[in-house]
Amino acid sequence: MTTESNSESNTGQIKPTTTQSGAPVASDEHSLTVGTEGVAALHDRYLVEKLAQFNRERIPERIVHAKGGGAHGVFEVTGDVSAYTRAAVFQPGTSTETLQRFSSVAGEQGSPDTWRDVRGFSVKFYTTEGNYDIVGNNTPVFFIRDGIKFPDFIHSQKRLPGSGLRDATMQWDFWTLSPESAHQVTYLMGDRGLPRSWREMPGFGSHTYQWINAAGERFWVKYHFTSNQGNVEMEGSEAELIAGADADYYRRDLHDAIEAGNFPSWTVSVQIMPYEDAKTYRFNPFDLTKVWPHADYPLIEVGVHTLNRNPQNFFAEIEQAAFSPANFVPGIAASPDKMLMARIFSYPDAARYRVGTNYAELPVNAPHAAPVNGYSQDGAGRHHFNAPEAPNYAPNSLGGPVADPLLAGEGSWENDGALLRAAAVLRSEDSDFGQAGTLYRDVFDDAAKARFLDTITGAISGVQRAEVTERAIWYWTSVDATLGAALRANLATWAEADMLAEASAGYSE
Ligand code: HEM
Repeated sequence: MTTESNSESNTGQIKPTTTQSGAPVASDEHSLTVGTEGVAALHDRYLVEKLAQFNRERIPERIVHAKGGGAHGVFEVTGDVSAYTRAAVFQPGTSTETLQRFSSVAGEQGSPDTWRDVRGFSVKFYTTEGNYDIVGNNTPVFFIRDGIKFPDFIHSQKRLPGSGLRDATMQWDFWTLSPESAHQVTYLMGDRGLPRSWREMPGFGSHTYQWINAAGERFWVKYHFTSNQGNVEMEGSEAELIAGADADYYRRDLHDAIEAGNFPSWTVSVQIMPYEDAKTYRFNPFDLTKVWPHADYPLIEVGVHTLNRNPQNFFAEIEQAAFSPANFVPGIAASPDKMLMARIFSYPDAARYRVGTNYAELPVNAPHAAPVNGYSQDGAGRHHFNAPEAPNYAPNSLGGPVADPLLAGEGSWENDGALLRAAAVLRSEDSDFGQAGTLYRDVFDDAAKARFLDTITGAISGVQRAEVTERAIWYWTSVDATLGAALRANLATWAEADMLAEASAGYSE
């Protein structure tokens, strides 16, 4: 990456400003005009170049997770999981360069960091076998379990097409008509929905992935990143104040901590499920709305991920970074999770549109520790190319790269059934509300329960259709009957307080 200073040369002499083609220019401040009061001349190529380049400085923001920040780091293996995966990045003693990006989901580029939202947690490992990406969140589950619903879900969380405003009615309409969202909404509306900083929150791969060991044995795996700074949250009222005072609160916190040498780190662990267990496990292990209780599959430590270097250019290293759940390496593969399959299409497609066809050539996206050999060529912005004598087709008899047939069987699973559009058959403990209820009842203490009730009451009181409010009360009653009753009572009290406030405002006028 070019980081040369553009003002002084190594000899201390001021360098001349040049056009992008390297020719010196006559003025940094004055356009070429006819007379001093001027008509500007179109052949002032520097004026034209400056304005044209400026108009093209922005690329489309990410359709989701637009606001974020990130840093470079290192992943060091401390455990021994070689019995479960042959991936080089997870072998004992290995150290791998990384890039991490954190984000909020629904807000735009300039949105405040402390709006309540799920936070993205993406890590790119520049491994010796190619780049491996874990593109997860600070929650172990998600709102939906079929990728076909993702655009609708996101529409409901962003803005109304007419007014351009965010809208509680459509958010709750979607969630309550998609009860599989209950577990994730419980996380989001609980204390974990407002981390104090990116440094002080956990990360999860969320999906179930497949690991394959050197003997070809298969395992199902879930990733956990536990913050070594602890999990620290903030209250809703404080988050609202910060949202107004410092929209970049999380971005600043991460940058300043790393600048001060206070490097944040996460312990990376996995849950491992033997391949055969998946067939009979009490929950569908590929359902992204469910966790695997640790009592069933305990955490096994893999290593430590540390962020130790800020980007030198935010646009080049963070904005143009393209993470993808499709970036697997040998020893790691997909699972039969419908959401994961949709994502495997979606991210490289988004990167081609957002950054450009040859996004993978940019220094931040290209592998740092593995070669790229292949037959792809051309396209806008291409600058890496094969030697002129190299063949650009396969098969060939000219010594071009050859695919590895040993990889052909890797990442497989048995499946059986007709081609159809239907929800997965429910297992003994599969229900939309079961794990959400456990989280509310058994993990939240009384104070957390009270804050949770206040948060959902506030969010639902913005709903403008009685039918949707009633459905929201049914949704939370299904999570926990006591909670549903408390919500109904709280909504009535809040509505009454609003009416009184309006009446008294009328009197004082
Ligand atoms: C970003 C699609 C579900 C985590 C994105 C982007 C797209 C997308 C198009 C923007 C990518 C870019 O412009 O570079 C989808 C689809 C999903 C889905 C279609 C469901 C089928 C999820 C889930 C998670 C997740 C389940 C977490 C477990 C993220 C993160 C980013 C992101 C962290 C930001 C990546 C970055 O930092 O650049 N998603 N997503 N998404 N998504 Fe998803």
